[in-house]
Amino acid sequence: MSIKTILITGGAGFIGSTVIRHALKHTHLRIINIDALTYAGNLASLELDPKNQNHTFIHANICQQDLIQKAFDTYQPDAIMHLAAESHVDRSISAPLEFLTTNVMGTGILLETSRDYWSNLPPDRKASFRFHHISTDEVFGSLPEKGLFHEESPYQPNSPYSASKAASDHLVRSWHKTYELPIIITNCSNNYGPYQFPEKLIPFTILNALRGNPIPIYGKGEQIRDWLYVEDHARALLDVLHNGIVGETYAIGGRSEKQNIVVAQDICNLLMELAPEKAPSSGHYADLITHVTDRPGHDTRYAINSDKIEETLHWKPQENFKSGLTKTVQWYLQNQQWWDNILSGKYRLARPQTE
Ligand SMILES: NC(=O)c1ccc[n+]([C@@H]2O[C@H](COP(=O)([O-])OP(=O)(O)OC[C@H]3O[C@@H](n4cnc5c(N)ncnc54)[C@H](O)[C@@H]3O)[C@@H](O)[C@H]2O)c1
Repeated sequence: MSIKTILITGGAGFIGSTVIRHALKHTHLRIINIDALTYAGNLASLELDPKNQNHTFIHANICQQDLIQKAFDTYQPDAIMHLAAESHVDRSISAPLEFLTTNVMGTGILLETSRDYWSNLPPDRKASFRFHHISTDEVFGSLPEKGLFHEESPYQPNSPYSASKAASDHLVRSWHKTYELPIIITNCSNNYGPYQFPEKLIPFTILNALRGNPIPIYGKGEQIRDWLYVEDHARALLDVLHNGIVGETYAIGGRSEKQNIVVAQDICNLLMELAPEKAPSSGHYADLITHVTDRPGHDTRYAINSDKIEETLHWKPQENFKSGLTKTVQWYLQNQQWWDNILSGKYRLARPQTE
């Protein structure tokens, strides 16, 4: 049996909506999208064609077991891609319990509902069913100057966000070891690209620069992240879902390490090329960069060794940081309506930025 219907959680978020747009454009997959539409969820990110029969949206919280159960019974998915999460480190520092509810309890509810559904499938569908858990490299903690995270890296989460994601990874693994639920886990580095909520470092910097606001950078901005263009991540996720080995983990990264301060400077330089007319009166967008007190427990460096997915599934990023960042800055310049609708609501770029 091949995978035809996928239940995606968090499909109105940044990465989930990219996976769905990609799947609807390039495949015949039928997508059942479950999302609670928290502050981070936005159906406008899906660019939905109302005539497209291959997408069904269910407004539900993954902690609502009755609604999740009903979605399984009604749509009979062949696979789950679990992306729904509270995903912002700074929010996890100010309100950690929400992270435990969605990321830990929500994942547990989804696993248990999946197990119940999967154990009653006929043998051929049972064999091809997949529970794909989408996670982060932040579960591995912080790297020194040298070395890369890989599939066997020890878990050492440092923030409530990464600890809640680590807990969810452990639950997923244990449902495989204990119940043989056919799971796959992916741990990915920092994503960037169109439709990212403006609290994350790259859109935060672009939008503050365009509005002439200070661009706050934590500490000296020397923290290093390995950036991956979100459409490359979406392709990787679908490759892993279809061709990955049950029970295994895949580390996904962009081989594109940058210090936060360099990311901010690159954005300012691109804006000078693409939107010189909006530059501040001082002359350069980079004049807006302001250093602020560092975040507690701030990880120094993340970077991924993605040999396994590159060698076994022949996936490679198609964008390098320069091409991906140029596309991203152009997208934010051309899609002001999308971010205006967000900024005019509750969220007003008042928070410190993070990656
Ligand atoms: N953004 C990154 O750089 C990155 C990197 C690696 C892994 N990840 C992981 O990928 C996944 C998606 O990340 P993202 O950046 O798209 O996040 P996001 O915050 O943009 O989107 C999360 C989505 O989940 C939904 N959601 C939140 N709580 C929910 C709940 N209880 N029930 C149902 N829906 C709920 C939100 O409405 C939103 O649409 C997360 O699991 C995250 O940990 C993200």
